[in-house]
Amino acid sequence: MKKVLALTILFAAFASCSDSDTYQDIENPETETPANPTNPTEPVAAITYTKNVKSIIDANCIGCHQSGRSAGFRPLTTYAEVKAAVESAGLLNRIQLQTGQQGIMPQGGRMAQANIDLIVKWNTDGLKEN
Ligand code: HEC
Repeated sequence: MKKVLALTILFAAFASCSDSDTYQDIENPETETPANPTNPTEPVAAITYTKNVKSIIDANCIGCHQSGRSAGFRPLTTYAEVKAAVESAGLLNRIQLQTGQQGIMPQGGRMAQANIDLIVKWNTDGLKEN
């Protein structure tokens, strides 16, 4: 009978150990990612310059938009420069024009829609750097 009691206590001790794991999960909500309504397997994250925007600008714009190039008057090589171009030089309007329209950026033609959408969402998300 004593053996049964000892085993019961031992079992209870193990059971409470696994309970504490569950509490830890609840106490660390940052390990949980919010569901994305359009794609439940992908978390919703704010668009940032460093993470998402810089590589698009580097690939499509800075060939001209840096000092010494044709659009060196409006460099787009840093966070502050790109943010300022969105806020006061009509960058969002320029990239949403149609190929062939006056003022379209890049001058050679409209970028892939996914790139345009991402830069528009960057603005909606508050033009974050990181
Ligand atoms: C082939 C060279 C070239 C490329 C590539 C290019 N631009 Fe331009 N961009 C220019 C020139 C030249 C001007 C000035 C003439 C004008 O305003 O249309 C200009 C003007 C602009 C302006 C207005 C600046 C101001 O101060 O009035 C913005 C904003 C702009 N470009 C954004 C972009 C973005 C964003 C990209 C990439 C997605 C890009 N450009 C790609 C050549 C380029």
